[in-house]
Parts: sequence; structure tokens; C-alpha cells
Amino acid sequence: MPELVFTKTISESLKQYCSLNHIKNAVVLCDSNTKLHCLPTLSEFNFPVIVCPAGEKSKSFEQVSFIVNQLIDLNADRQTHLINLGGGMVSDLGGFVASIYKRGIPFINIPTSLLGMVDAGIGGKTGIDFLNYKNIIGAFNHAKAIFISSEFLQTLPSEEFVSAWSEIVKTATVANLELFQTIENKTDIDEIIKQCALTKTKLVEMDFKDLNIRQLLNFGHTIGHALESYQLEINAPIHHGFAVAYGMLIELKVALQLETINKEEFNRIAALIKTKVAYEIEEEGLFDSYSKYLLGDKKNNDSNISFSLPKSIGNGQYQCKVSMDQLKNWKIEGII
Ligand SMILES: NC(=O)c1ccc[n+]([C@@H]2O[C@H](COP(=O)([O-])OP(=O)(O)OC[C@H]3O[C@@H](n4cnc5c(N)ncnc54)[C@H](O)[C@@H]3O)[C@@H](O)[C@H]2O)c1
Repeated sequence: MPELVFTKTISESLKQYCSLNHIKNAVVLCDSNTKLHCLPTLSEFNFPVIVCPAGEKSKSFEQVSFIVNQLIDLNADRQTHLINLGGGMVSDLGGFVASIYKRGIPFINIPTSLLGMVDAGIGGKTGIDFLNYKNIIGAFNHAKAIFISSEFLQTLPSEEFVSAWSEIVKTATVANLELFQTIENKTDIDEIIKQCALTKTKLVEMDFKDLNIRQLLNFGHTIGHALESYQLEINAPIHHGFAVAYGMLIELKVALQLETINKEEFNRIAALIKTKVAYEIEEEGLFDSYSKYLLGDKKNNDSNISFSLPKSIGNGQYQCKVSMDQLKNWKIEGII
């Protein structure tokens, strides 16, 4: 498992790590936004820098090829560390390049988005998109170290911040009661990031390849991914976090219907989702529009849909099967 470092001063911690691990060569990968806002934090290192365009579109073979070209030009060898300085796009892309360049070079993640700090930068899933399929090409490969510091959040656009809350609430709901209570009662972002990152780390330790208990983290994502795909189809993309928030609310209804959760806890979870990730969506006819993407979901091996659902706050279950017929009349309208 990677070294997970929570710090207030990234440059100090990285300096220490490089010295202890005798790291002489490193290359920083960032995107156009993190180059501007986050790279100055590493200015004292004088590492060469590769910059790719910001946005999900950079999780592509084109950018893999661009980065590999740059690494060759920089004479990067198998001891060279790739430092991924950015959100989930940069860590997914950079982690993937590091997994294949010269059959694998070490990499370090320095997540700069809230989503990266609590989720994407942790867990060793690396990859790119292909032919409109998200993360269809990739590798499981752990970073050597992950440095987490909320100092980067000051420049993060507010929409990115709000949407990342979906993943925090998700992790708390299915895997950590204490984190859930912390979110309900406090706003200390450092404490929340730490608890959330450690919770994900624990699940990854138990199930690196996502074959069983790690699937708890899919709560909200079965419906969320289907909705995201449909919105892409109609050229009206919505933020992943907002799709997941909608997904969690519908999937909570599934849990209530299946009586895996009681009404009181249902209300508490729904209230937290609504408080942390406000959104508006027109639901009329929506299920008919996104349902075709549910059947294509990679977690389904027959016409039933597979869900990860909460059992009680902080506990979940995975691979719960629900038929399409059971699903179709459920809307979030009227929830609390
Ligand atoms: N590997 C995993 O386990 C995992 C888990 C969840 C999500 N993901 C992936 O992560 C990606 C989404 O991650 P994301 O939300 O971080 O997206 P992102 O990396 O695209 O970052 C979102 C936006 O914020 C900008 N940004 C990042 N940090 C900034 C900062 N400190 N200041 C100013 N701007 C900043 C980026 O340039 C970008 O425009 C998706 O590709 C998703 O598939 C991976």
C-alpha cells in the first residue's frame, strides 16, 4: 500500500520523502489549471514539467502518446518518479502512463481537487477513456505515496468542490458511521478529508481488485452512471457528483423498498445528501431515458440491476439485485 501523508506543507513533506527514498529524478504531470494554481507550490524542486489540457477529454490515447513522447525526450528511466499534480483526471492518466512506460515506473499522487483527495487519488485504479466508454482501458497499480493537503482547495472552482461532497457522503453512508456524524456536526474539512481517505484506503486494502467489499463505494453510481451517460448522449453533460447525488437518492429508495434500511436512517441520509449537494433535475420521463444504460452497466450479468446499498448508516451491502420493473416508478420527488 502507498504511504499516505496528510500535510499542511506539501513541499516540505515531498522534500523529506525524496530524501528518505533517494529519489533523484522526477517529472511532474499537471493540467493547464493545476500548472497555474498548484505548480508554484513545487517550484523549489526544479523538476521538469509536462502539461496536458484540463478536462476529462485528456484521459485519451492522444495524451498518453504525448506524455510518453515527453518522457522519452526527458530521458526518463525506470527510476524516474512521475508526480501527478492534479485532480482525478491527472492521477488516472498519469498513473496509467506510469504503469506502461518502460513496463512501469513509480508514481506519486498529489491530489489538488477535493475529489482527488477523498477518492480518485487513492486506491490504485488508473486509466483512460476510449470510444466514449469511461475508464475502459487501465491498470490496477498503486502510487508509491500520496500527499494530501487542503492548501490546494482555495483555488478549486466551487462547483468542483460541491460535487465532490457526493463521494464523501457516499463513503460515510456505506462504510463509516463516525465520518457520517462528523459531516453532520462539523465543517472541519481537513478532518473530513482524512477520515474519508482512510476509509477508502481500508476498503482498498481488503479488496484491491474491486471484486467484493470495495464495491460498496458504488453506492449511487449505478443510477448515477446511467444518468451521466444519458446526459452525454443528449449533449447536456452533468457533473459526476450531481449525477451520483441523484443516484444515491434513488438507490436509497431502493434500500427502503427492500427494507434494508429503516425510514429514520433513510431520512437522515437523504437530508445530508440534499444539504451537501444541492441540485435540480426534471424527473418527468427521466427513467425511460436513462434506463437503457442501466442494462449495459458492467455490474449487471442478467436483466436484474446490481446495487450497492446502505444497510444502516455506516454499513452497506453490495451485489443487491433489483429488477427493472421494481425500479421504474421511483423518483426523488417528495423525499423528505
Ligand atoms: N481512480 C479512481 O479511483 C477514481 C475515483 C473517482 C473518480 N475518478 C476519476 O477522476 C476524474 C474526476 O476527478 P476530478 O473531479 O478531480 O476532475 P479533474 O481532475 O478534471 O479536476 C476538475 C477541474 O478542477 C481543476 N482543478 C483541480 N485542482 C484544482 C485546484 N487546486 N485549483 C484550481 N483548479 C483545479 C482541474 O483542472 C479541472 O478543470 C474522472 O476522470 C473520474 O473518472 C477516478
